[in-house]
Amino acid sequence: MPSASLRLLILGSNGGLGRSLTRQLAMTCDVVAWTRAELDLMRLEEIEARLEAQPFDVLINPAGITSPDDCAQHPELAQKINAEAPRELARVCHRLGRRLIHFSTDYVFDGTKLSPWNEDDPAMPINRYGLTKRDGELAVLKACPQALVARVSWLFGPDKSSHPDQIIAKALQSENLSAIANKTSSPTFTRDLCEWIRMLVTSHPEIKGILHLCNQGTASWQQWGEAALEIANRLGLPVLTQKLSPSALEDCHFFKDARPPHTSMSTARFTKLTGIRPRPWRDALEEHLHNLHAELAFSSVPH
Ligand SMILES: NC(=O)c1ccc[n+]([C@@H]2O[C@H](COP(=O)([O-])OP(=O)(O)OC[C@H]3O[C@@H](n4cnc5c(N)ncnc54)[C@H](OP(=O)(O)O)[C@@H]3O)[C@@H](O)[C@H]2O)c1
Repeated sequence: MPSASLRLLILGSNGGLGRSLTRQLAMTCDVVAWTRAELDLMRLEEIEARLEAQPFDVLINPAGITSPDDCAQHPELAQKINAEAPRELARVCHRLGRRLIHFSTDYVFDGTKLSPWNEDDPAMPINRYGLTKRDGELAVLKACPQALVARVSWLFGPDKSSHPDQIIAKALQSENLSAIANKTSSPTFTRDLCEWIRMLVTSHPEIKGILHLCNQGTASWQQWGEAALEIANRLGLPVLTQKLSPSALEDCHFFKDARPPHTSMSTARFTKLTGIRPRPWRDALEEHLHNLHAELAFSSVPH
C-alpha cells in the first residue's frame, strides 16, 4: 500500500514523542493525532467505540505515565494508563484487524547486565514504572499477537526538554555541575526514532513482537551531559564548564523509586529485520543541538 494512503492514528500526541511522531509522519502519511482531550485513556469503556468510529490503518500509542516517580506515587493510575489501556487498545485493534505500534521502555530491565540487553532477555523491572510498562507489553502482545512493541530509551529531541538540554541551560549559569556516572543507557534522538517508525509503518508491516529502537552506543548521564557541553562550546554558547563532576546513583536521595543502573539496548534484531543501522548517539546529539542552536539564533533575529 503506498504510504500516502496509510491512515495513522496517533494517541498522546501532546507528549514529547507524540508531537515528534505527529509532525514527522504527517510528511508521508495521513495522520490523525489525538491528545488526551480527544481520548482519555482513563475511560477504558470509551476506547472501543472511539476507535470503531475513526478510520485508521495503524494505531500508534506513545501515551503513558512516563515519570518513574509519578508512577511510584500514583501506582493505580500508572497501571491503568501503562497496562490496562494498552490491553484494551490491543484487543480492539486485533478485533478490527488493524496494526498497533505501542511504546515501551528500557526500564523493564533490572539494570544488572553490563552489555546491551536483547529483546529476549528477561524483563524484571525494579520500579513501579517498569512494572506497569512490562505489564503493558505482555498485555498488548497477548491481546494482539501482531502488534509491535517498540522499546525506546533516554529520548532527546526538539519537542521535550531532556538531560543534555537541561545540562546546557545550567552550564550557562554555573560552573559547578554534576551528573550520575554509574547509570548507563542508549540516548535516542526522537527524529531518528520517528524515521525508523515511518519505515516500519510503510515498508515492514510484517514486523511484530518486541523491538529495541535506540541510537548506537552507551553513555552515562555524566558522559551524555559532557558530550552536550562540548558541542555547545563548539557552537559558541557561553557555557561556563565542559566538565561534570561524577555523582553516584545510590546517593540520589531525591528519586522516589529505584532506577535500574544499566539498560543500554542492542538493536541487532532491528538491523537484521530492516537493514537499518542506527547512527551513534553522539552524531545524533550533534544534529539535535545544531538544530536547536539554529532555531534559537533565528528566533533572536529582529523581525
Ligand atoms: N522520554 C523518554 O526518555 C523515554 C524513555 C523510555 C521510554 N519512553 C516511552 O516512550 C513513550 C513516549 O514517552 P514521552 O517521553 O513522549 O512521554 P510524555 O512526554 O510524558 O508524553 C506522554 C503522553 O501521554 C499522555 N497521557 C497521559 N495520560 C493520559 C490519558 N489518561 N489519556 C490520554 N493520554 C494520556 C500525556 O498527555 P498530556 O499531554 O495531556 O499530559 C502525554 O501527552 C512512552 O511510552 C514512554 O514510556 C520514553
